[in-house]
Amino acid sequence: MIRCVQTRLFAVIGHPVKHSLSPAMMNAAFRALDIPAFYLALEVSDFLEDMKHITALGFDGLSVTIPHKESAMKLAVVDDEAARAIGAVNCLKRVDDVWRGKNTDWIGVVDSFKSRGIDISGKKALVLGAGGAARGVIYAALKMGAEVTVVNRTDEKAFSLADEFGINAVEHKSLKERVCDFQVVFQTTPVGMNGYPVEHFWPYDIFRPGMIVMDLVYRPAKTAFMKSAEERGCTVISGLDMLLYQGVAQFEWWFDRPAPLEAMKKALYEAAE
Ligand code: ATR
Repeated sequence: MIRCVQTRLFAVIGHPVKHSLSPAMMNAAFRALDIPAFYLALEVSDFLEDMKHITALGFDGLSVTIPHKESAMKLAVVDDEAARAIGAVNCLKRVDDVWRGKNTDWIGVVDSFKSRGIDISGKKALVLGAGGAARGVIYAALKMGAEVTVVNRTDEKAFSLADEFGINAVEHKSLKERVCDFQVVFQTTPVGMNGYPVEHFWPYDIFRPGMIVMDLVYRPAKTAFMKSAEERGCTVISGLDMLLYQGVAQFEWWFDRPAPLEAMKKALYEAAE
Protein backbone atom coordinates (compact mmCIF):
# COMPACT_ATOMS: atom_id res chain seq x y z
CA MET A 1 0.00 0.00 0.00
CA ILE A 2 1.29 3.47 -0.89
CA ARG A 3 0.82 6.26 1.68
CA CYS A 4 1.77 9.89 1.29
CA VAL A 5 3.60 10.55 4.57
CA GLN A 6 5.04 14.08 4.54
CA THR A 7 2.30 16.03 2.86
CA ARG A 8 -1.30 15.95 3.93
CA LEU A 9 -3.59 15.28 1.00
CA PHE A 10 -6.92 16.89 0.21
CA ALA A 11 -9.02 16.90 -2.95
CA VAL A 12 -12.24 17.86 -4.60
CA ILE A 13 -13.95 14.78 -6.01
CA GLY A 14 -16.66 14.93 -8.65
CA HIS A 15 -17.45 14.50 -12.29
CA PRO A 16 -16.51 16.69 -14.05
CA VAL A 17 -13.96 18.56 -11.88
CA LYS A 18 -11.50 19.62 -14.57
CA HIS A 19 -12.44 23.29 -14.24
CA SER A 20 -12.87 23.36 -10.46
CA LEU A 21 -11.69 26.57 -8.77
CA SER A 22 -11.30 24.84 -5.39
CA PRO A 23 -7.64 23.72 -5.84
CA ALA A 24 -6.54 27.34 -6.43
CA MET A 25 -8.46 28.52 -3.37
CA MET A 26 -7.40 25.72 -0.99
CA ASN A 27 -3.73 25.59 -2.03
CA ALA A 28 -3.58 29.36 -1.48
CA ALA A 29 -4.87 28.76 2.06
CA PHE A 30 -2.19 26.11 2.71
CA ARG A 31 0.53 28.42 1.38
CA ALA A 32 -0.70 31.38 3.40
CA LEU A 33 -0.46 29.38 6.64
CA ASP A 34 2.57 27.30 5.69
CA ILE A 35 0.66 24.05 6.07
CA PRO A 36 2.42 21.05 4.48
CA ALA A 37 -0.61 19.94 2.50
CA PHE A 38 -1.75 19.72 -1.10
CA TYR A 39 -5.22 19.87 -2.64
CA LEU A 40 -5.98 18.11 -5.93
CA ALA A 41 -8.93 17.79 -8.30
CA LEU A 42 -9.83 14.12 -8.73
CA GLU A 43 -12.17 12.94 -11.44
CA VAL A 44 -14.27 10.28 -9.71
CA SER A 45 -16.82 8.33 -11.71
CA ASP A 46 -17.38 5.20 -9.63
CA PHE A 47 -17.78 6.72 -6.17
CA LEU A 48 -17.57 3.64 -3.93
CA GLU A 49 -14.76 1.97 -5.88
CA ASP A 50 -12.72 5.18 -6.22
CA MET A 51 -13.18 6.04 -2.54
CA LYS A 52 -11.34 2.81 -1.66
CA HIS A 53 -8.24 4.07 -3.48
CA ILE A 54 -8.55 7.57 -2.09
CA THR A 55 -8.82 6.16 1.41
CA ALA A 56 -5.83 3.83 0.85
CA LEU A 57 -3.71 6.79 -0.29
CA GLY A 58 -4.37 8.49 3.03
CA PHE A 59 -6.35 11.58 2.03
CA ASP A 60 -7.38 13.58 5.12
CA GLY A 61 -10.23 15.59 3.68
CA LEU A 62 -12.38 15.82 0.58
CA SER A 63 -14.69 18.38 -0.96
CA VAL A 64 -17.51 16.51 -2.67
CA THR A 65 -19.27 17.91 -5.68
CA ILE A 66 -21.79 16.83 -8.32
CA PRO A 67 -22.82 14.02 -8.71
CA HIS A 68 -21.53 12.43 -5.49
CA LYS A 69 -23.04 14.48 -2.65
CA GLU A 70 -25.84 11.99 -1.96
CA SER A 71 -23.47 8.99 -2.15
CA ALA A 72 -21.09 10.72 0.26
CA MET A 73 -24.00 11.11 2.64
CA LYS A 74 -24.52 7.33 2.60
CA LEU A 75 -20.82 6.48 2.98
CA ALA A 76 -19.98 8.84 5.83
CA VAL A 77 -20.84 9.03 9.50
CA VAL A 78 -23.03 12.12 9.57
CA ASP A 79 -24.00 13.83 12.79
CA ASP A 80 -24.53 17.19 11.06
CA GLU A 81 -28.21 18.12 11.28
CA ALA A 82 -27.96 20.38 8.20
CA ALA A 83 -26.50 17.61 6.00
CA ARG A 84 -29.32 15.32 7.05
CA ALA A 85 -32.02 17.92 6.31
CA ILE A 86 -30.46 18.85 2.95
CA GLY A 87 -29.78 15.19 2.12
CA ALA A 88 -26.25 15.86 0.91
CA VAL A 89 -22.68 15.92 2.18
CA ASN A 90 -20.20 18.23 0.41
CA CYS A 91 -17.30 17.77 2.80
CA LEU A 92 -15.59 14.68 4.20
CA LYS A 93 -13.01 14.54 6.97
CA ARG A 94 -11.09 11.45 7.98
CA VAL A 95 -11.09 11.00 11.75
CA ASP A 96 -9.54 7.81 13.21
CA ASP A 97 -9.88 6.10 9.83
CA VAL A 98 -13.58 6.90 9.58
CA TRP A 99 -15.01 9.36 7.02
CA ARG A 100 -17.21 11.93 8.71
CA GLY A 101 -19.54 14.06 6.60
CA LYS A 102 -20.82 17.61 6.79
CA ASN A 103 -22.67 20.09 4.60
CA THR A 104 -21.04 23.50 4.24
CA ASP A 105 -22.96 24.65 1.13
CA TRP A 106 -25.64 26.27 3.24
CA ILE A 107 -22.97 27.96 5.39
CA GLY A 108 -21.58 29.38 2.14
CA VAL A 109 -24.93 31.04 1.49
CA VAL A 110 -25.41 32.35 5.04
CA ASP A 111 -21.85 33.74 5.26
CA SER A 112 -22.15 35.43 1.83
CA PHE A 113 -25.01 37.48 3.29
CA LYS A 114 -23.31 37.98 6.67
CA SER A 115 -20.08 39.23 5.09
CA ARG A 116 -22.04 42.03 3.40
CA GLY A 117 -24.12 42.79 6.47
CA ILE A 118 -27.34 41.79 4.70
CA ASP A 119 -30.09 40.61 7.02
CA ILE A 120 -33.03 38.85 5.36
CA SER A 121 -34.89 37.77 8.47
CA GLY A 122 -38.63 38.32 8.02
CA LYS A 123 -38.13 38.98 4.29
CA LYS A 124 -39.92 37.06 1.55
CA ALA A 125 -37.47 34.96 -0.45
CA LEU A 126 -38.06 33.18 -3.74
CA VAL A 127 -35.92 30.18 -4.72
CA LEU A 128 -35.73 29.38 -8.45
CA GLY A 129 -35.15 25.66 -8.98
CA ALA A 130 -35.90 22.54 -6.97
CA GLY A 131 -32.78 20.40 -7.34
CA GLY A 132 -29.93 19.61 -4.98
CA ALA A 133 -28.58 23.16 -4.93
CA ALA A 134 -32.03 24.52 -4.07
CA ARG A 135 -32.19 22.29 -0.98
CA GLY A 136 -29.07 23.88 0.53
CA VAL A 137 -30.32 27.37 -0.30
CA ILE A 138 -33.75 26.73 1.20
CA TYR A 139 -32.15 25.44 4.39
CA ALA A 140 -29.89 28.53 4.54
CA ALA A 141 -32.72 30.98 3.83
CA LEU A 142 -34.84 29.41 6.58
CA LYS A 143 -31.88 29.59 9.00
CA MET A 144 -31.58 33.30 8.15
CA GLY A 145 -35.22 33.73 9.12
CA ALA A 146 -36.65 34.35 5.65
CA GLU A 147 -40.12 33.32 4.56
CA VAL A 148 -39.33 30.99 1.67
CA THR A 149 -41.21 30.13 -1.54
CA VAL A 150 -39.95 27.86 -4.30
CA VAL A 151 -40.71 27.86 -8.04
CA ASN A 152 -39.47 25.39 -10.64
CA ARG A 153 -39.78 24.56 -14.34
CA THR A 154 -41.42 21.30 -13.26
CA ASP A 155 -44.12 22.36 -10.80
CA GLU A 156 -44.49 18.98 -9.06
CA LYS A 157 -40.90 19.08 -7.84
CA ALA A 158 -41.41 22.54 -6.35
CA PHE A 159 -44.57 21.44 -4.55
CA SER A 160 -43.02 18.28 -3.15
CA LEU A 161 -39.95 20.21 -1.95
CA ALA A 162 -42.24 22.79 -0.36
CA ASP A 163 -44.04 20.00 1.50
CA GLU A 164 -40.79 18.55 2.76
CA PHE A 165 -39.40 21.85 4.07
CA GLY A 166 -42.75 23.29 5.20
CA ILE A 167 -42.46 26.27 2.81
CA ASN A 168 -44.61 27.65 -0.04
CA ALA A 169 -44.48 26.93 -3.75
CA VAL A 170 -45.86 28.84 -6.73
CA GLU A 171 -46.63 27.51 -10.17
CA HIS A 172 -44.14 28.42 -12.85
CA LYS A 173 -46.82 29.99 -15.01
CA SER A 174 -47.73 32.52 -12.30
CA LEU A 175 -44.13 33.52 -11.62
CA LYS A 176 -44.30 36.81 -13.53
CA GLU A 177 -47.29 38.16 -11.64
CA ARG A 178 -46.13 36.82 -8.26
CA VAL A 179 -42.54 38.02 -8.34
CA CYS A 180 -43.34 41.48 -6.95
CA ASP A 181 -44.21 39.74 -3.66
CA PHE A 182 -40.52 38.96 -3.05
CA GLN A 183 -37.59 40.96 -1.68
CA VAL A 184 -34.94 38.26 -2.13
CA VAL A 185 -34.35 35.95 -5.12
CA PHE A 186 -32.02 32.93 -5.27
CA GLN A 187 -31.20 31.44 -8.68
CA THR A 188 -30.19 27.80 -8.13
CA THR A 189 -30.60 26.26 -11.62
CA PRO A 190 -27.75 25.77 -14.12
CA VAL A 191 -29.39 28.28 -16.49
CA GLY A 192 -26.83 30.93 -17.43
CA MET A 193 -23.81 28.67 -17.00
CA ASN A 194 -21.11 28.81 -19.70
CA GLY A 195 -22.01 26.41 -22.47
CA TYR A 196 -25.58 26.09 -21.26
CA PRO A 197 -28.28 26.96 -23.82
CA VAL A 198 -29.78 30.39 -23.12
CA GLU A 199 -33.38 30.03 -22.11
CA HIS A 200 -35.94 32.36 -20.67
CA PHE A 201 -36.89 30.42 -17.58
CA TRP A 202 -36.71 33.68 -15.66
CA PRO A 203 -38.15 36.88 -17.11
CA TYR A 204 -35.19 39.25 -16.67
CA ASP A 205 -37.28 42.41 -16.97
CA ILE A 206 -39.06 42.06 -13.67
CA PHE A 207 -36.33 42.75 -11.13
CA ARG A 208 -37.22 45.71 -8.94
CA PRO A 209 -34.81 48.17 -7.32
CA GLY A 210 -33.89 47.11 -3.80
CA MET A 211 -34.26 43.38 -4.39
CA ILE A 212 -31.43 41.19 -3.12
CA VAL A 213 -30.47 38.70 -5.80
CA MET A 214 -28.10 35.75 -5.55
CA ASP A 215 -27.10 33.58 -8.50
CA LEU A 216 -25.36 30.30 -7.64
CA VAL A 217 -23.88 30.10 -11.14
CA TYR A 218 -20.31 31.45 -11.08
CA ARG A 219 -19.16 30.56 -14.59
CA PRO A 220 -19.29 33.19 -16.05
CA ALA A 221 -18.46 35.21 -12.93
CA LYS A 222 -21.23 37.64 -13.92
CA THR A 223 -24.25 35.92 -15.48
CA ALA A 224 -26.91 37.60 -17.64
CA PHE A 225 -29.21 37.14 -14.64
CA MET A 226 -26.84 39.09 -12.39
CA LYS A 227 -26.20 41.82 -14.97
CA SER A 228 -29.89 42.31 -15.47
CA ALA A 229 -30.50 42.51 -11.70
CA GLU A 230 -27.66 45.00 -11.29
CA GLU A 231 -28.96 47.20 -14.10
CA ARG A 232 -32.31 47.33 -12.33
CA GLY A 233 -30.86 48.50 -9.03
CA CYS A 234 -30.73 45.21 -7.11
CA THR A 235 -28.05 44.15 -4.65
CA VAL A 236 -26.36 41.21 -6.34
CA ILE A 237 -24.47 38.39 -4.62
CA SER A 238 -22.26 36.13 -6.70
CA GLY A 239 -22.10 32.35 -6.52
CA LEU A 240 -18.35 32.86 -6.13
CA ASP A 241 -18.99 34.19 -2.64
CA MET A 242 -20.87 31.02 -1.77
CA LEU A 243 -17.96 28.96 -3.14
CA LEU A 244 -15.55 30.98 -1.03
CA TYR A 245 -17.44 30.73 2.24
CA GLN A 246 -18.35 27.05 1.87
CA GLY A 247 -14.60 26.47 1.32
CA VAL A 248 -13.68 28.55 4.36
CA ALA A 249 -16.04 26.39 6.45
CA GLN A 250 -14.46 23.22 5.04
CA PHE A 251 -10.95 24.44 5.83
CA GLU A 252 -11.96 25.35 9.38
CA TRP A 253 -13.54 21.95 9.93
CA TRP A 254 -10.50 20.08 8.60
CA PHE A 255 -7.89 22.12 10.50
CA ASP A 256 -9.81 23.41 13.48
CA ARG A 257 -8.37 26.91 13.05
CA PRO A 258 -9.45 30.12 11.31
CA ALA A 259 -9.06 30.09 7.53
CA PRO A 260 -6.97 32.75 5.74
CA LEU A 261 -10.01 34.38 4.15
CA GLU A 262 -8.25 37.11 2.16
CA ALA A 263 -5.71 34.73 0.60
CA MET A 264 -8.50 32.32 -0.37
CA LYS A 265 -10.65 35.11 -1.80
CA LYS A 266 -7.81 36.55 -3.88
CA ALA A 267 -6.87 33.14 -5.31
CA LEU A 268 -10.48 32.26 -6.05
CA TYR A 269 -11.33 35.52 -7.80
CA GLU A 270 -8.09 35.39 -9.82
CA ALA A 271 -8.78 31.80 -10.89
CA ALA A 272 -12.32 32.76 -11.90
CA GLU A 273 -11.19 35.56 -14.25
P1 ATR B 1 -28.46 20.59 -8.80
O1 ATR B 1 -28.10 19.48 -7.87
O2 ATR B 1 -27.28 21.30 -9.38
O3 ATR B 1 -29.46 21.53 -8.23
P2 ATR B 1 -30.46 19.10 -10.23
O4 ATR B 1 -30.79 18.38 -8.99
O5 ATR B 1 -30.38 18.35 -11.52
O6 ATR B 1 -29.08 19.88 -10.10
O7 ATR B 1 -31.53 20.31 -10.42
C1 ATR B 1 -31.45 21.18 -11.45
C2 ATR B 1 -32.53 22.24 -11.27
O8 ATR B 1 -32.41 23.17 -12.34
C3 ATR B 1 -33.94 21.70 -11.35
O9 ATR B 1 -34.77 22.53 -10.58
C4 ATR B 1 -34.25 21.84 -12.82
O10 ATR B 1 -35.61 21.95 -13.14
P3 ATR B 1 -36.50 20.62 -13.40
O11 ATR B 1 -36.84 20.09 -12.04
O12 ATR B 1 -37.69 21.13 -14.14
O13 ATR B 1 -35.64 19.69 -14.19
C5 ATR B 1 -33.59 23.17 -13.10
N1 ATR B 1 -33.27 23.31 -14.53
C6 ATR B 1 -32.34 22.62 -15.21
N2 ATR B 1 -32.31 23.04 -16.49
C7 ATR B 1 -33.25 24.02 -16.61
C8 ATR B 1 -33.70 24.86 -17.68
N3 ATR B 1 -33.17 24.77 -18.90
N4 ATR B 1 -34.67 25.76 -17.41
C9 ATR B 1 -35.21 25.85 -16.18
N5 ATR B 1 -34.83 25.08 -15.13
C10 ATR B 1 -33.86 24.18 -15.34
